[in-house]
Amino acid sequence: MAIRSEDVLDTTKDNKEVKTNEKERDYSQYFQSTYAPPSLKDAKKRGKEQVQILKDFSIPENLKNIGVGKKFYIRTYGCQMNEHDTEVMAGILNEMGYETTYSTDDADVILLNTCAIRENAENKVFGELGHLKHTKANNPNLLLGVCGCMSQEESVVNRILSTYPQVDMIFGTHNIHRLPQIIENALFSKEMVVEVWSKEGDIVENLPRKRKGNVKGWVNIMYGCDKFCTYCIVPYTRGKERSRYPQDIIEEVRQLAREGYKEVTLLGQNVNAYGKDFEDLEYGLGDLMDEIRKIDIPRLRFTTSHPRDFDDRLIEVLAKGGNIVDHVHLPVQHGNSDVLKLMARKYTREHYLELVSKIKAAMPNVALTTDIIVGFPNETEEQFQETLSLVKEVQYDAAYTFIYSPREGTPAAKMQDNVPMEVKRERLQRLNAMLNDISLEKNKAYVGKVVEVLVEGESKKNPDVLTGHTGSNKVVNFKAPKHLIGEIVKVQITDAKTWNLGGEWVEEKSEVVG
Ligand code: 5AD
Ligand code: SF4
Repeated sequence: MAIRSEDVLDTTKDNKEVKTNEKERDYSQYFQSTYAPPSLKDAKKRGKEQVQILKDFSIPENLKNIGVGKKFYIRTYGCQMNEHDTEVMAGILNEMGYETTYSTDDADVILLNTCAIRENAENKVFGELGHLKHTKANNPNLLLGVCGCMSQEESVVNRILSTYPQVDMIFGTHNIHRLPQIIENALFSKEMVVEVWSKEGDIVENLPRKRKGNVKGWVNIMYGCDKFCTYCIVPYTRGKERSRYPQDIIEEVRQLAREGYKEVTLLGQNVNAYGKDFEDLEYGLGDLMDEIRKIDIPRLRFTTSHPRDFDDRLIEVLAKGGNIVDHVHLPVQHGNSDVLKLMARKYTREHYLELVSKIKAAMPNVALTTDIIVGFPNETEEQFQETLSLVKEVQYDAAYTFIYSPREGTPAAKMQDNVPMEVKRERLQRLNAMLNDISLEKNKAYVGKVVEVLVEGESKKNPDVLTGHTGSNKVVNFKAPKHLIGEIVKVQITDAKTWNLGGEWVEEKSEVVG
């Protein structure tokens, strides 16, 4: 069995790993095979229950070869957290003998790792399930699974149960480490297997991972989110904030360094809350970054930040530079303090701008990017203008912009809204036009300079051209020999567009930025 009670560790008491009294715990929930629907109400609870750290992940002997001679295909929607979860699922499937395929046609297992953040993300998945009905009809032995954030929503699970009988398994974000048993159940059951826990969440260490490539690695530093921004479904689908131990993270980064990775991104829904859940240890993201920056990894990133928890200790560490890249993604969501209050963002426009000034002072070459929502319920033209003026003031290098999408079960979904959709669309266009102008101006400032680029591969448009990112996260396209893929090289920028830079590969030493 995957979870042995004597290996369940308590995170309290001097932050040492203390074995808990196993008799006190009720493990029956872990082994339930009957259908219990996910519950957003339960998922919202933030109790005193301890986070369990499960260290003994292993694939049961009888399931180790169950996939030999078979193939799997995983389609990932949404954020980097999902991308990384896919790497874990791929690692587990590999250890069960399955191999990767890039086509749904010859797959024996297809998983859709879904995103619930906006309605259109969900619609894409339902569309895909429709297409896969034919794939399943052609190959009745195929196992089709839905996992990720959508499977934590009861409305989605009920819709799949009633309308998409081609689905064989639904499992939640807390159940990924149970994939071997879920597959076993699905192989031997005629019923749809549903395993979704609406719980605050545990931490499972020692999971296998099949990372995408061997150049850029993602490392989870924490899971979940307790911010409960009123528009957002994530705290319900991903559970409460829980941090991995520094030593586990540091060991994982060291391992990536030993394997020659060039870039590590520390991942969490709200990385600035890292360590707040340690009961007897004062240790935050700044402290963690200060230790990790000493590891021999050329580039170190972190995402996603929340302005409320972004503290001076972190800024002090970011100012040390070195392998810490000149890029901070700092979602603002809106430029008006009243809207920010309705969003429950817990900061004002002024606080955000003050934080931006501090970051710019500490990191003079910093590229700032953000997330912005337009058309939050009842947003007035004047309030929207404040988003525009904030964008102008901060001068973002890039931004992800969204029209507000009501998510069932969140407080904002209950708010009455009197802004017509065409007004929301028009605001989005005006916002994007301003952001694009700023991006282009910022990119033009690179022309003539020499930047360091981590070469990621051939350009999709032209295989003769290589492409990669600067530390400041600018895309750079240039011609150079293919053996440079995976290396950090110097490129002189000759051309600037809104979305990317063009340049020439240089070998000689010059002034380097970004
Ligand atoms: N509607 C629109 N955008 C949303 N985001 C999160 N929830 C919603 C929603 N309900 C955006 C936020 C967040 C990004 C990942 O997605 O800007 O930072
Ligand atoms: Fe969602 Fe807010 Fe948490 Fe980000 S901080 S994941 S927007 S609730």
